[in-house]
Amino acid sequence: MFPGCATLNHAMTPRIGTPEEFHELREWLDKVGLPDEREQPDHPLVRFFSRSQPRPRSELGQPLLEDLGLAVPADTEGWIRPSVDLYRMAGLYLVSDSFASIQAGMAPFDAVFPPSAFGTRLFMRSLPKEPAPTALDLCAGAAPAALILARAGAREVTATDLSHRAAHFATFNARLNGLPRIESLQGDTFEAVRGRKFHLIAAQPPFIPDFGQKYMFLNSGEIGHTIPQRILSELPEYLEPGGSFHAVLSLFEDASATVSGRIRGWLGEAGDRFDIFVFERLRRNARDAFSMEQGEKEETAAAWQEVCERRGLTDSVLSVIVLQRHASTRPAITASRHVDAPDWERIRDYIALHQDTGIAARLREGKLADAPSLSVLSSSRHEDGREIETVELYTSHPFPDRRALPAELSGLLPLCDGTRSGAEVLAALPQRPEEALFWREVESLVREGFLELRG
Ligand SMILES: C[S@@+](CC[C@H](N)C(=O)[O-])C[C@H]1O[C@@H](n2cnc3c(N)ncnc32)[C@H](O)[C@@H]1O
Repeated sequence: MFPGCATLNHAMTPRIGTPEEFHELREWLDKVGLPDEREQPDHPLVRFFSRSQPRPRSELGQPLLEDLGLAVPADTEGWIRPSVDLYRMAGLYLVSDSFASIQAGMAPFDAVFPPSAFGTRLFMRSLPKEPAPTALDLCAGAAPAALILARAGAREVTATDLSHRAAHFATFNARLNGLPRIESLQGDTFEAVRGRKFHLIAAQPPFIPDFGQKYMFLNSGEIGHTIPQRILSELPEYLEPGGSFHAVLSLFEDASATVSGRIRGWLGEAGDRFDIFVFERLRRNARDAFSMEQGEKEETAAAWQEVCERRGLTDSVLSVIVLQRHASTRPAITASRHVDAPDWERIRDYIALHQDTGIAARLREGKLADAPSLSVLSSSRHEDGREIETVELYTSHPFPDRRALPAELSGLLPLCDGTRSGAEVLAALPQRPEEALFWREVESLVREGFLELRG
């Protein structure tokens, strides 16, 4: 039995309406202008739909809210209150169980995860905007990923979740958004899609350690790795060669395993065919991660400290993970970096720069130029009677980044004007640097978006 279960059996399940009803509801939502709660938290509709504040029925004036089971009569005569949360995010409408009832431990064990959570926002903005032929949203919940991928034009989109309730909400959300072709299935991880392969697989599965309040959407084994590990070890069976996997995961590191190392290990023998890109959004001390997230009682916090000690956990890392299965036999790439805003366009451009295996070979002949997003800060100081120049480079694309140029390369930038090849730049530098350092540094400057390589 889980906390709050006894009180829950009356959680409302919205009715799947007719296409006409969904069309009418969508038009009404567009007309009344339900905003993203992040942008207008005090909007009356946001207060109604995501903070459960009752309103007079006549003020809302939309009978479908009650007809479809999204609202019920409130205690005050003539007023209604929502029975689920309804959000507008990324231009989509998403219905889930109520965040407030989940927080209060009053929601069912299989409550549908509210997509307004921080992790889901990261997940939604990091998903590809280009259409994939076939796409799978695994552990879909309210199916925000399936909706994004269907809207991007995927030919076939499947959402699957262990919870029947989530599968029902996914169907509801697909129809509400006028994307009825999304297939919504129930099953344990890949169970419902055995024997099928997809060009794109997206997942934000449960990844929280098994402490405290238990919901199906939350907990995933002693340190939260059970379901991510199962998904990644089965992934090669379900992903087409050339396909990609996109996830938001929080994983723990220890002295012997980084996030990318764990993922490569879980992929097993097929791992050497996968490029792994880890875009770290939040890194914390493992000991602080659980107590901060859950605000748990003392004994829970003590038990978590014991787990950290026994398993040697060092850091907790919340990341957007992108894996690409390459069809050739070239060596696999692993790249990891911190990002504040993991938007798809940046991720895509970063991956392209890192997958360009020809960069090293083209550096000698290709012309070097400043990237359009580059800015440079030069300063000099006097030390022991000598003038020391420092050059700091800043780029905003693909991700905001800064780095100091090694002193031997301080004359590099004025030479990178698009007319000189790498070899000519090296020859023209006032202080001849060590060659290996020069090529390593220039390659990295190109891959990180400080310099461009033309031709
Ligand atoms: C953290 S929620 C995320 C939901 C959704 N992907 C999102 O981003 O909003 C995790 C989801 O995984 C589902 N889940 C839990 N265990 C699962 C399993 N073994 N197989 C498939 N889905 C599972 C839960 O029901 C829940 O909907």
